Amino acid sequence: MPFFWHFCSALKTFRIVFFASALLLLGVLMLSSFRHAPESDHYTKEELGQQLFFDKGLSLDSSVSCASCHIPAFAFSDTVALSKGFQGRLGLRNAPSVMNMKFRDLMFYDGRAKSLRDQVHFPIADPNEMNLAYEVAIQRIAANPVYAKAFQQLYQSAPDAINIADAIASFEETLESSETPFDRYMSGDTNAISESAKRGRELFLGDKAKCFDCHFGPDFTGDEFRNIGLYNGKEDKDAGRFNVTKDSADLGKFKVPGLRNIGVTGPYMHDGRFKTLDAVINYYNNPSAFVRDPKNIDPLLQAPLNLSKAEKEDLKNFLLSLTDKRFNNR
Ligand code: HEC
Ligand code: HEC
Repeated sequence: MPFFWHFCSALKTFRIVFFASALLLLGVLMLSSFRHAPESDHYTKEELGQQLFFDKGLSLDSSVSCASCHIPAFAFSDTVALSKGFQGRLGLRNAPSVMNMKFRDLMFYDGRAKSLRDQVHFPIADPNEMNLAYEVAIQRIAANPVYAKAFQQLYQSAPDAINIADAIASFEETLESSETPFDRYMSGDTNAISESAKRGRELFLGDKAKCFDCHFGPDFTGDEFRNIGLYNGKEDKDAGRFNVTKDSADLGKFKVPGLRNIGVTGPYMHDGRFKTLDAVINYYNNPSAFVRDPKNIDPLLQAPLNLSKAEKEDLKNFLLSLTDKRFNNR
């Protein structure tokens, strides 16, 4: 009897322990699925792309995300001339804003990527940026159950080179500007920009400053490659578009950047050489004062513009009117 009793009570303890652990395990499983499942169930392509854009796991040592260099508060650009990538390595060019990319075609200052989607694998694989083979990035993403599930739901497929790029690009395409003082002015609110900015707009469009000849269209770029005189083959060696086409007509040409949010995306130009818009405007006013013997400079910029101090200020105020409302508190 005592033996039987002991056996019974041991069995009982065992049962209690067994059921308790089973319950605990179930609880943990349910909790973790609650934490992830509803999120991934509700992912849109854009939200999935946003997660990936901010995910440091896309770099070899999980230290750098796209957003490390394309910082949201600065219209998704960087605040330094050359960004720090993998283990602090510096790249060769300035990180531009990735806002207003929806209507762009070729990507990068030299146009070496054919589209926003084609662009995605470059920074991931670049040894100076994220330094992770794209195939390894794909494996990492596939190994994450939340991502794997989201890709299955959105693309009916495991994560791959094409759908990862599509998700990230879909997110970038949501970053379109709106609600700038300039846009309000254009839609009839005559007080949305200052008198100085209005004069600056006339200058920008006109024959004296000639900016609109290259910075045209709704985002102030015609997506062409032009040479503004920052290449001389000596100190200034980046040959831009020529590196891709090997056509001597392209020596020193760079993709004309859009100018929306230009007030918050400094430093400026492909190498970030100008810290301020004043410096940019002074440059355009007389390029030859800055670069010795520029090669292949655009005919539009061969003679000084002769802008007065007041005109320069007006031009700057116009450029500042292109800043989105959400960046306006700086
Ligand atoms: C280490 C900094 C760094 C990281 C990380 C980085 N970028 Fe960039 N990005 C740059 C630089 C620098 C350029 C300009 C390079 C050039 O033109 O040759 C650039 C250019 C771009 C462009 C082209 C914009 C244009 O106007 O042509 C896009 C789009 C872009 N990056 C998106 C991304 C995405 C998406 C990621 C993450 C997968 C990413 N970047 C990660 C620095 C970075
Ligand atoms: C001949 C064509 C051309 C003309 C004219 C021109 N630009 Fe540009 N602009 C460019 C190109 C190309 C770049 C990029 C050059 C580089 O990065 O090296 C650029 C860059 C800029 C930038 C820096 C953008 C950034 O994100 O770093 C600003 C600001 C700018 N231009 C404003 C102006 C203003 C203001 C005028 C008129 C005074 C003007 N541009 C006239 C072609 C032109």
